[in-house]
Amino acid sequence: MPGFSIRGLGSAVPDKVVTNDDLAARLDTSDSWITERTGIKQRHMGGTTSELAVAAGRMALDNAGVPAQDVDLLVLATTTPDEIVPGTSATVQNALGVGGGAFDVNAACSGFVYGLVVAHGLALAGTRRILLVGSETLTRITDLDDRTLAVIVGDGAGAVLLEATDGPGDLISYDLGADGSLRHLLHCPHGGVLYMDGKEVFRKAVRVVVDSSRAALERAGLTPGDVDLFVPHQANARIISAAAERLGIPPERCVVTIDRYGNTSSASIPLALADAKSSGQLTPGTVVLLSGFGGGMTWASAVLSWKL
Ligand code: COA
Repeated sequence: MPGFSIRGLGSAVPDKVVTNDDLAARLDTSDSWITERTGIKQRHMGGTTSELAVAAGRMALDNAGVPAQDVDLLVLATTTPDEIVPGTSATVQNALGVGGGAFDVNAACSGFVYGLVVAHGLALAGTRRILLVGSETLTRITDLDDRTLAVIVGDGAGAVLLEATDGPGDLISYDLGADGSLRHLLHCPHGGVLYMDGKEVFRKAVRVVVDSSRAALERAGLTPGDVDLFVPHQANARIISAAAERLGIPPERCVVTIDRYGNTSSASIPLALADAKSSGQLTPGTVVLLSGFGGGMTWASAVLSWKL
């Protein structure tokens, strides 16, 4: 089906790197606990959501060779906006000089895949070029003295420049879901800090990633065996390996970046795509399965026929 094609990729992380040993120096934790329980070795911290989004967005525009004024729409997936009003997309639109409209999408860590599906619909409705950015500064809403969350979160951004196609687009199928009865598992009140029931989120996450991935693949007429590259939300390496194992996707077909970035919420999937592209894992013709999950709970999977 027509839709969009990804023409450019970009990513950005703050300069400041915080290792597990840095955290262990001031919290009751250790490199071995964090590595074994989460797969994280380090994370980047700092900046604002708009600064990181501007840097990643600019890189995606340069990568595509498209001037900002030729973009018709900016969609910013974030759960950590700079301010409650206006949308952080307004700051990013202004800084980049994007010619068209701008709005935020908040579906927590599923936000980037939700944004991709929204962009697909808008491309079908006639929007020509869309800059989709996932940008987060989770460390700003985290109590960094609380070891359970401080060791997990990181800051970063990833972006894709999408262009509408007349022929087949990159998005083959998708699955979106939400269960708001679970919103107490992961939330942050106004002016407060993140709360997470880690064990329960873990249990649910594995199930929704597997079920949602299967649903998206089924709609595409594909099976997990057809997936060349699985790019899941990076929340915990054990969630990724458990989901991949249940789907029957071997480890060499999974993109894992959590060791370097921690959990960057809606930035994790586009950051992982940018890393996979620069490491040569993503080549034209690759069948890519994206699967995100997060607060809400929300979940979202998409199957792409990669062309860039
Ligand atoms: N360092 C050292 N010990 C820690 C610790 C830390 N940072 N955090 C917790 N512990 C301790 C606990 O106090 C507990 O000690 P006890 O056995 O003496 O009571 C023990 O380690 C095990 O804690 P538990 O909470 O059972 O660990 P876990 O294996 O469930 O791992 C998470 C915790 C948060 C890493 C894990 O639950 C997780 O990743 N959940 C999903 C998170 C997620 O996906 N979030 C994002 C959604 S978008």
